[in-house]
Amino acid sequence: MCGIVAAVTQRNIINFLLESIQRLEYRGYDSSGLALINKNNDFIRVRSIGKVKELIKKTKNKKLSGKIGLAHTRWATHGKVSEENTHPHISSHIAIVHNGIIENSLKLRLFLQKKGYIFQSDTDTEVIVHLLHWEQKKTGKSLVEVIHNSVIKLHGNYSMVAMDSNHSSKLIAVCSGSPLIIGLGVGENFIASDQIALLNITKRFIYLKEGDIAIIKAEKTTIFNKNYSIVRRKIIESDVKYECVKKGKYKHYMEKEIYEQPDSIRNTLKNRLKNNTTIFFPELGLKEINIFLNVEHIQIVACGTSYHAAMVAKHWFESLANIPCDVEVASEFSSRKLAVRKKSFFITLSQSGETADTLTALRISKKLGYLGNLTICNMKGSSLVQESDIYLLTQAGIEIGVASTKSFTTQLTVLLMLVAKIVSIKQKKNNVEKKIAKILTILPYRIEEILKKNKEIKNIAKKLYNTKNILFLGRGDQYPIAMEGALKLKEISYIHAEAYPSGELKHGPLALIDENIPIIITAPKNLLLEKTKKNIQEICTRGGLIYIFSDAEINLEKNITLLKVPYVEEIIAPIFYIIPLQLLAYYIALSKGTNIDQPRNLAKSVTVE
Ligand code: AGP
Repeated sequence: MCGIVAAVTQRNIINFLLESIQRLEYRGYDSSGLALINKNNDFIRVRSIGKVKELIKKTKNKKLSGKIGLAHTRWATHGKVSEENTHPHISSHIAIVHNGIIENSLKLRLFLQKKGYIFQSDTDTEVIVHLLHWEQKKTGKSLVEVIHNSVIKLHGNYSMVAMDSNHSSKLIAVCSGSPLIIGLGVGENFIASDQIALLNITKRFIYLKEGDIAIIKAEKTTIFNKNYSIVRRKIIESDVKYECVKKGKYKHYMEKEIYEQPDSIRNTLKNRLKNNTTIFFPELGLKEINIFLNVEHIQIVACGTSYHAAMVAKHWFESLANIPCDVEVASEFSSRKLAVRKKSFFITLSQSGETADTLTALRISKKLGYLGNLTICNMKGSSLVQESDIYLLTQAGIEIGVASTKSFTTQLTVLLMLVAKIVSIKQKKNNVEKKIAKILTILPYRIEEILKKNKEIKNIAKKLYNTKNILFLGRGDQYPIAMEGALKLKEISYIHAEAYPSGELKHGPLALIDENIPIIITAPKNLLLEKTKKNIQEICTRGGLIYIFSDAEINLEKNITLLKVPYVEEIIAPIFYIIPLQLLAYYIALSKGTNIDQPRNLAKSVTVE
């Protein structure tokens, strides 16, 4: 989604703004722009549609200079992709960049038009900047006071950064439902949508909280909370290394992130497994242990890939801990009147910790009488982490590819540990915990083994990349894996892919089967295999082209391709079997030549509902 970077320094910041905004490209965007205040206290604005490199071209030979400025990547919501709609937007002496949506912008636009404002764009951002200008003209107050008085008029989740060319020593930032992070420098300060933009400048960050307004000057920052009282917010030393943001020997971030999975899982297990037999979460105190002792139901809410991880976890909660578990996509959870089960505990899953739908669901859940809530998240300091009762961090490292890979397998690793721990707490015996701890230590090696199948998977990809439709099938805990495999494929290759539970095929989708539709099946050797074999037979007799990933022996009819995978323990099979599907999607997209790391229309962190 939109990316914001701004700085107030003692030096010319044009290069910093261009480099940093480029680092936010991975979030997804369609145009970019920047504005500086020059030494005459005038705004200089440059905007361009397309990639940041187009913006860089436009700034060349312009000798731009300024010690304070804003930059933005826009992901269109209000108004088409055009230079007029690209940020920053300016009203006289005020310039702003903004992320999120102002839900009542139409009403405010009509009001401002009546007051004589002429709009240059279709954006809700221009509504904000004219509103600030109008309020300031009316009241004569400083920009920060005007912003404080205006935020109640702006409905929706958003963040913004503003500057005033009459007072060129400060930036004003507002965090209202969409993240902003202050980066602390020496004699200079920065603000951005996420730390990646600032990692080569500083490691010291302040995550603004919901409702915060900050004044950022080169020498100091002042933060007001939603009651307009000055507050001190914790400074976080980031342990994220800037090197993580480089592709190294890989062609794409997604490829790098797929191959990083054994290490991401090792990092996620680190300090959480004692003697390979005990699972240890320092984050869970006595209070949480008591909650889990009493818990009778789990509700998990998430989006996209994180939702698929939740679907796998449902199998584990129910089969290992005997706790009923419901899973729902966050936007649906927030779209109906909810009935909450007795003694239910609420869990959110998220890579970014900033997904607006998931955050809204968490906020709603707090009014519904759950026993408590927990987030499993990859981003320390993110909104979900800050707003949840407890959090467990996955240690996947920064994930840049829009298509999630290592965040999925590390979420599953934490979820499996959590289920095992809850079994021990509830059943007061630790045999399940011991068994799972032991299996989890083997998991990174198992993944290393399956990654070695890359060449064979690449060959399958070469046969499939021209296909228009692909079906994915799975049974039991492999159904969410089929869903995740289909999501990966459609995101990065734009091939239509659908997932079905294998047994559901005969209830309709079988009508689609002919020699033109490839079907991908993950079929581990387990109690469900015989039923899956029957489904394979049903497809075979109708001429479907089948590709099976399995560690079992399967009769090879002429339209079946079997990719024999190494043995894996049944409980971790979902974490293992997603790897070939990630590689398959990656190699298909590579053959097609699509933009793998930044697929069209998508954003890494979806901060609008
Ligand atoms: C995954 O490949 C997607 N890009 C997307 O579905 C993602 O998983 C979803 O937007 C949720 O994101 P989160 O985990 O950061 O909350």
